[in-house]
Amino acid sequence: MAQSKPEAEVGHEALTNKLKTLRGQMKAGGGEKRIEAQHAKGKMTARERIDALLDEGTFQEINGLMVSRHTDFGLDKEKIPGDGIVAGFGKVNGRRVCVYAQDFTIMGGSFGEVAGQKVAHIMDMAMDAGVPVIGLNDGGGARIQEGIFSLYAYGEVFYRNTMASGVIPQISVILGPCAGGAVYSPALTDFIVMTKGISNMFITGPEVIKTVTHEVVDVETLGGAMAHSSTSGVAHFAAENEKEALSAVRDLLGYLPANYKETAPAAEVSDDPWRMDKELDTIVPADPSVGYDMKEVINRICDRNSFMEVMANFAQNCIIGFARLHGQSIGIVAQQPLFMAGAIDIDAADKMARFVRFCDAFNIPLITFSDSPGFLPGVSQEHGGIIRHGAKIVYAFSEASVPKLTVVTRKGYGGAYIVMSSKHIHADMVFAWPGAEIAVMGAEGAVAILYRKELAEKADSGEERKRLVAEFKEKFSNPYIAASAGFVDDVLFPHETRPRLIAALELLRDKQTHTPAKKHGCIPL
Ligand code: HXC
Repeated sequence: MAQSKPEAEVGHEALTNKLKTLRGQMKAGGGEKRIEAQHAKGKMTARERIDALLDEGTFQEINGLMVSRHTDFGLDKEKIPGDGIVAGFGKVNGRRVCVYAQDFTIMGGSFGEVAGQKVAHIMDMAMDAGVPVIGLNDGGGARIQEGIFSLYAYGEVFYRNTMASGVIPQISVILGPCAGGAVYSPALTDFIVMTKGISNMFITGPEVIKTVTHEVVDVETLGGAMAHSSTSGVAHFAAENEKEALSAVRDLLGYLPANYKETAPAAEVSDDPWRMDKELDTIVPADPSVGYDMKEVINRICDRNSFMEVMANFAQNCIIGFARLHGQSIGIVAQQPLFMAGAIDIDAADKMARFVRFCDAFNIPLITFSDSPGFLPGVSQEHGGIIRHGAKIVYAFSEASVPKLTVVTRKGYGGAYIVMSSKHIHADMVFAWPGAEIAVMGAEGAVAILYRKELAEKADSGEERKRLVAEFKEKFSNPYIAASAGFVDDVLFPHETRPRLIAALELLRDKQTHTPAKKHGCIPL
């Protein structure tokens, strides 16, 4: 006769089996077929993505057993533990982060009440712990069957995105659809990474657009990675595939502190702080109308291979990104003379101002390389609000309390000179290169205005104009008047720039500033 198991053992086995079954259901997500369909689209599952993002074996899942309480429209048959969101925490390069991922295999990653509660909880934990939060988005938006409860869910997340802004870094990765109001969670975060060809973001899709405005557009053109990283400026990075997108997030985190109270971790010093690159001395062409690549300037001055450009395809007349100087994380803001001669337009203003504020919020010193002939003229710019948008740069730089160092490499004309972290809006140190032209405007323009009458009266005014331009340049288009007034702290041979910036950063490491008491300022948005 077979011996029956003791009662206590049966009880334990049942308990074990119950948990094992639930864990199995939780891990299986929407099931094999849907996982296969996900893979067939070239997409990883939520769990595979988290594994690819985090250091191996560090993921700790929480709330994996939560299920929806809703039953309408067949939801009573869709009770899968986890309910379309995988949430938890782990490490990236040994540093703690919180993470959540929409699971497209469960009802298309649609966002319901439980999803909202899980994301809200992990965000609260991230804020309490003071660690970055990363959201991996791939879903059909608000879960239609849950009605207003899914709207409540999104609202809770939007609120937390706002509260967490400036407290912890928030990064969104878009790896599939992200439509309707769902886009506002990523939009409230600090960085958006998209994958080319697979991800898309839009408020209203092609069908609605066709009905309302009669425009015909496909999803990729409307809201794909390139549309948002080069035209709308919504996305900060466009990756070739999911692996590259997640790897970009890991790289990005390396430049950031865990929260606003900390400073970014210093990297191992791999480059000589005294390195002086003589190529810099001839990098700016003698002819001021000829462009040069400011990215080369940045790469030659910063620690080797440390520059990570942000928004590389949007408003290419300016450059923003992270880099390192003597291992220390810095934010770079610069003009790019190769595009629109480095003129500042609406998009450039938005791009630079937002980045400056991010760096300031997270204690990342700002290094500005300025070479701008001014704000871009034009009716579309004026009517588009260049005044309002341009004001954001002044506001952002003026408000920033991190160490601010500026190098004027060539043109520093008028308003563009002032707004690009000049001494007048309280940059800590401003350097200029010997060919810098710091003036109210370019010599040709100035002469045309100052001597309009005289030149008009002369039949052959060419030679006279040349003479006047040369005279104006000699007097005003150089860095020495600014240096003699103390507006520029020193004129540097370009090759000296790296060690001088490193020394200035070291001095300002514990910089303290005082801002007037206020609730918050009113940045011209
Ligand atoms: C519930 C959804 C869903 C949703 C998709 N599914 N979206 N379930 N609520 N919002 C389900 C589908 O019914 C399907 O279930 C499964 O997810 C996979 O979807 P498919 O359509 O088969 O996948 P695919 O062909 O890849 O298309 C994906 C998609 C499409 C582009 C996301 O599903 C889609 O257009 N969904 C609706 C998007 C939408 O309009 N959402 C509401 C936006 S308004 P089965 O069981 O068949 O596999 C919004 C307001 C938010 O979000 C406001 C916040 C403030």
